[in-house]
Amino acid sequence: MKHKARKGIILAGGSGTRLYPLSKSVSKQLMPVYDKPMIYYPLSILMQSGIREILIITKPNDKKNFYDLLGNGNHLGININYEVQKSPDGIAQSFLIAEKFLSGCKSTLILGDNIFYGPNFNTLLNEAYDNDTGATIFTHKVNDPENYGVIELENHKIKSIEEKPELPKSNYVVTGLYYYDEQVVEYAKSLKPSHRGELEITDINNIYLENSALEYKLMDEKYSWLDTGTHDSLLQAGNFIASLESKNNKKICCPEEISFNSGWITNKQLQALSESLINTNYGKYLMSLIEKNNI
Ligand code: DAU
Repeated sequence: MKHKARKGIILAGGSGTRLYPLSKSVSKQLMPVYDKPMIYYPLSILMQSGIREILIITKPNDKKNFYDLLGNGNHLGININYEVQKSPDGIAQSFLIAEKFLSGCKSTLILGDNIFYGPNFNTLLNEAYDNDTGATIFTHKVNDPENYGVIELENHKIKSIEEKPELPKSNYVVTGLYYYDEQVVEYAKSLKPSHRGELEITDINNIYLENSALEYKLMDEKYSWLDTGTHDSLLQAGNFIASLESKNNKKICCPEEISFNSGWITNKQLQALSESLINTNYGKYLMSLIEKNNI
């Protein structure tokens, strides 16, 4: 039973220069990943986690495009709010921007370009959701840990986290999905910019670690955490989703489906959504969900 509502934040700003010229006039997080805009993937993770109050943080010029895509979220049975980040001054700045929106609630932050896929991911999400005190981060093993926040583990506990270390102490890194208790806004206020001029999410995680209040969920090799940062990795992510969807005849991270299965929208509402997209396979898929439900 989820007693206290947790709120979600999707951070969808940043410069995205590694995807130029693609992302010169369109936000990276609106780029297609096969059949849906990139932001549908992190949005779906928050929704799967049972989160219905969501804040999307964008660059100032992009806010309108995100609103055109997702509106106030009511068609998905959720509420979506928008704020802007004037310049990319760090992931932890999200909590300063989101202070009013959070109004003392626990939160889940997800980076707008992070795509997660794996079996029973809901179980991990539920456990993180239910962690009432402290923070939970998600970790995955990679071949290039020096590009991420790196976790050192000892006796299954986190011993240290270092941001982009020259000599990583392990191959386990922090992914862009973070669950925090109510303290996170105060911790964010206490941060000083790092040597790269950013308010670092790793510094927040280290505060929780010092307080012995940091847990982790290991996403083992059954899980995929997809990179979308370069032209090649964006294409590979799209191909990965396309091949899984066609093999399983099931969409990955379809917000309409999650909402329908959660009982947040009715048959009739899903029908209206599918009719507005009926010329596409996406719309036909939504229609098939209604048909299956009527059997
Ligand atoms: O992807 C996970 C990694 O994300 C973690 O392992 C690192 O600990 C964490 O610091 C972060 O790494 P980077 O700093 O290299 O992330 P990047 O600058 O690529 O930003 C991640 C996303 O967040 C990207 O889509 C842009 C967005 N962003 C980033 C910053 C700094 C913003 O919207 N605003 C920002 O101010």
